[in-house]
Amino acid sequence: MPDNAPPKTYRVKSFGCQMNVYDGERMGELLGERGIVPAAEGEDADLVVLNTCHIREKAAEKVYSDIGRISKRGREAGKQPLIAVAGCVAQAEGEEIMARAPAVSMVVGPQAYHRLPEMLDTAIAGGRATDTDMPANAKFDALPRRRKTAPSAFLTIQEGCDKFCTYCVVPYTRGAEISRPYSALVDEAKKLVDAGAREITLLGQNVSAWSGEDEAGRTVGLAGLVRALAKLPDLARIRYTTSHPADMDEALIAAHGEVDKLMPYLHLPVQSGSDRVLKAMNRSHTAESYLKLLDRFRAARPDLALSGDFIVGFPGETEAEFAETLQLVDAVGYAQAFSFKYSPRPGTPAATMDGQIAPEVMDERLQRLQAALRRDQLAFNEASVGKTCQVLVERRGKQDGQWLGKSPWLQSVHFTGDIAMGDLVEVELTSAGPQSLGGRLRQRALA
Ligand code: SAH
Ligand code: SF4
Ligand code: F3S
Repeated sequence: MPDNAPPKTYRVKSFGCQMNVYDGERMGELLGERGIVPAAEGEDADLVVLNTCHIREKAAEKVYSDIGRISKRGREAGKQPLIAVAGCVAQAEGEEIMARAPAVSMVVGPQAYHRLPEMLDTAIAGGRATDTDMPANAKFDALPRRRKTAPSAFLTIQEGCDKFCTYCVVPYTRGAEISRPYSALVDEAKKLVDAGAREITLLGQNVSAWSGEDEAGRTVGLAGLVRALAKLPDLARIRYTTSHPADMDEALIAAHGEVDKLMPYLHLPVQSGSDRVLKAMNRSHTAESYLKLLDRFRAARPDLALSGDFIVGFPGETEAEFAETLQLVDAVGYAQAFSFKYSPRPGTPAATMDGQIAPEVMDERLQRLQAALRRDQLAFNEASVGKTCQVLVERRGKQDGQWLGKSPWLQSVHFTGDIAMGDLVEVELTSAGPQSLGGRLRQRALA
């Protein structure tokens, strides 16, 4: 007799980046193949997958407290769910999780989750299974077909990272850079469109490092893939994230000027405005080379919205060096940005560097940086008021008849009207806040 009843319902909780969101969806599809369905909202699931992130803070501790909470609920309800830990913490600390958390019966790394169904069999039989292998592309080949998707879908095209920024765990948790084959991507994109996607965001830790061979056997980069996907008639919008300044080529810059479906938005993390700090981070750009690169993109697409990532309080960062980050922010005028306090990650070179910065200094710098970024985001949104643009309708708003969607510049826009999810509509932007804009429907259901 098996020790555990086969699960009927599952819940996947994804943390961290969009690639984890993509992976979480795919794990759900795999479980769906086994007839396991998503647990209804508010109901306990028979199988919980914690799809974890290891990038910052006490990620592992959070996982253990989540496991503790799930087990406690299970005891109260008189029924323990099966628990799987997936994602980057699983990759980095799989053995430790198995040793410390008996409630966990499956540990599966980001490159191995296609094996989840077999591991589930082991768990149902009362056993425990760990798989943190990193076979390139194997999971994509083994995953089921895409069936249903939101109007805006993610498509992982590249994984892993060879850049080894000195603060970052990704090269260790996601492994070496690999590109998925061109034909597999065109195929998956078609299926996503058939399943309802109007917008596809191409994902990779270093998405602009993607390369492949097109139908004619020519080597193409991200720009070539974007141009191929732009030919899919029912696909309206293409985005990509995240890029590294080192891999941005002329072809991609040109594509921003020429491919209408490629949205005018670029997320290009800079991390710091100080060349000394950038060097210590092992970033291959300087503040000046980054700004020059942005100029080239803006020359190709003048209305490009820019976004970035920042780390404050990297070991040894002086007040003057932090001020250079603020100067860079002023020079760029970001439409959106993400900023973080430096967090020492075990096993990375920066974790043992001299000059670790006191938490209160980091807090204070983060506040100043975020005030500047908020100011610029609001200014960008305010400058959009009066424009009429296309909005992809992605979900219902809180108020009756209200809809939420995204502008080409990735701003959230809310408005009312007799429309449907997935419509691409024309909206006049009428008011702006720091996080979103209000609009008036001008024309419904384009194309
Ligand atoms: N591949 C992408 C994203 C990496 S993770 C890139 O190169 O930009 C997303 C962001 O998390 C990074 O851009 C960085 O700003 C932040 N980050 C990564 N490691 C960090 C750390 N140890 N402490 C604080 N922030 C970190
Ligand atoms: Fe991490 Fe740097 Fe790679 Fe981005 S480029 S994933 S920050 S090592
Ligand atoms: Fe986190 Fe892994 Fe993504 S560490 S940010 S989930 S690549």
